[in-house]
Amino acid sequence: MAGRLPKPGTIELAPSILSADFANLASEIRQVTDAGVRIVHIDVMDGHFVPNLTIGPPVVKWIRRCTQAVLDVHLMITDPQRYAPRFVEAGADHITFHIETVREPVRMIEDLRRMGVTVGVTLNPGTPVDSILDVVPLCDMVLVMTVEPGFGGQEFMDAAARKCIPLREKFGNAVRIEVDGGINPQTAPIVVGYGADTLVAGQAVFGEPNRPEAVRSILQAALCGKR
Ligand code: DX5
Ligand code: ZN
Repeated sequence: MAGRLPKPGTIELAPSILSADFANLASEIRQVTDAGVRIVHIDVMDGHFVPNLTIGPPVVKWIRRCTQAVLDVHLMITDPQRYAPRFVEAGADHITFHIETVREPVRMIEDLRRMGVTVGVTLNPGTPVDSILDVVPLCDMVLVMTVEPGFGGQEFMDAAARKCIPLREKFGNAVRIEVDGGINPQTAPIVVGYGADTLVAGQAVFGEPNRPEAVRSILQAALCGKR
């Protein structure tokens, strides 16, 4: 483990390596951390909870060796209770799971905290805010999906993003609110206006030829949305 999730209150960009060049991950990550990024978002998909397959613990282990950034591991998998500990052992700093996938969320959150990581709970676009209200006080982060999970490069869903508003009203600055899907310089100020403080972006960072410039333009745009 290397980093701790920054406390709520700062706007952070968490580039998703899903859109990075997987044959040159170390260099891809260095380009964004040199530009000031403190969180790297890692999308884990199992071909079952979502229709795509991506990254497992061995890859996280090697990423851990090439960066001090906070490794924010987003588990889009059917059985996170079983596999989350393997990602922690591999060097994850933060684990996010989908509320639909866990039968005993309180137990899972407590177990993960005991392992020394911070924890986030996710809302899919169709999942109501009410379904997580009990567990949010135990978490460090809520992840509001602004696309259906599974693929990078999809279009931002404004109605889903608006769930940040009641969450920020209810929990104040006790948790980070992360948004994931379709974030770019146009949508960044909108989500920050709704109360998000942690912005995942895949295509808008690694789909651009100049990564540092892409990081700066999303962050600059995001700050314009700050209330
Ligand atoms: C979607 C993933 C996202 C995705 C975001 O299933 O959870 O993290 O990579 O990608 P963009 O920013 O390209 O929408
Ligand atoms: Zn993600």
